[in-house]
Amino acid sequence: MKATMSPLYLVGLLLLGLVCGIHAEDDVCGDTDQATYRPCPTVGLPCVRNYLQVRSACQSFSDEDRDSFVGSPVDLYAANFNLSAVQTNILTEGFSNARLFEFTVNLEKDLIVLTVEYTNLTLKNHYDYSYFQPSEEPITFQEYSTERYPHLYITSYISGVNNPQWASAYHVHYQEGTVEMSYERECVDENDGVLDAVLKDVRANIDIVTREVFLYRNQQIQEFFVKRNLCNFLQ
Ligand SMILES: *[C@@H]1O[C@H](CO)[C@@H](O)[C@H](O)[C@H]1NC(C)=O
Ligand SMILES: *[C@@H]1O[C@H](CO)[C@@H](O)[C@H](O)[C@H]1NC(C)=O
Repeated sequence: MKATMSPLYLVGLLLLGLVCGIHAEDDVCGDTDQATYRPCPTVGLPCVRNYLQVRSACQSFSDEDRDSFVGSPVDLYAANFNLSAVQTNILTEGFSNARLFEFTVNLEKDLIVLTVEYTNLTLKNHYDYSYFQPSEEPITFQEYSTERYPHLYITSYISGVNNPQWASAYHVHYQEGTVEMSYERECVDENDGVLDAVLKDVRANIDIVTREVFLYRNQQIQEFFVKRNLCNFLQ
């Protein structure tokens, strides 16, 4: 491919890049960010709640202010470690430390951006792991673990500024600090040298592993926060 690219083509690409850089408002490279604003200047909970409640089909809140929830099973996949797991969540705790971090709307893109900051979120999970090697049956084992995430930000992208589409929201996370983890394993063959090396690798790179797999957990955690604090849009 590269060898057949003509110099003119490359010059064209370069010029396009320059034009986009200089005339960012020309729509060549997508929308501008000029329509983004904070409807609640201090990102206060009552204001954001009110903003969302007048635009969504929210149910009334119950008085119960739970700090934790039990999630539904999630399939995790850590591609860099050839490892997959079915996570059966026993408990996610620490929601009383969570707070709204950002809330913006963009009328041009019809998009809401909502970020929640979680401090010391603790997950107690059961895992059914499978370790994959090419052309071989997976090696399976189980684990119970407690994981504490010192600092986690989950950002949700919700389309529909005046009619938030909660069900199709997209959630991404940003993780800070080192995850504290303790675990017990079952059905691990201590003499399996291959698996032993993999587990050592996972332990040494736990921050990378959790960053990789957290994507699959974001939705349940963020939805729990939203339902408890902003808009109980399901149930
Ligand atoms: C994953 O599998 C590939 C292919 O066998 C191998 O090259 C790689 O080292 C494996 N990585 C881990 C962490 O097991
Ligand atoms: C989070 O946990 C650490 C270690 O247990 C503790 O020092 C810190 O005060 C906790 N922070 C909050 C906000 O609970």
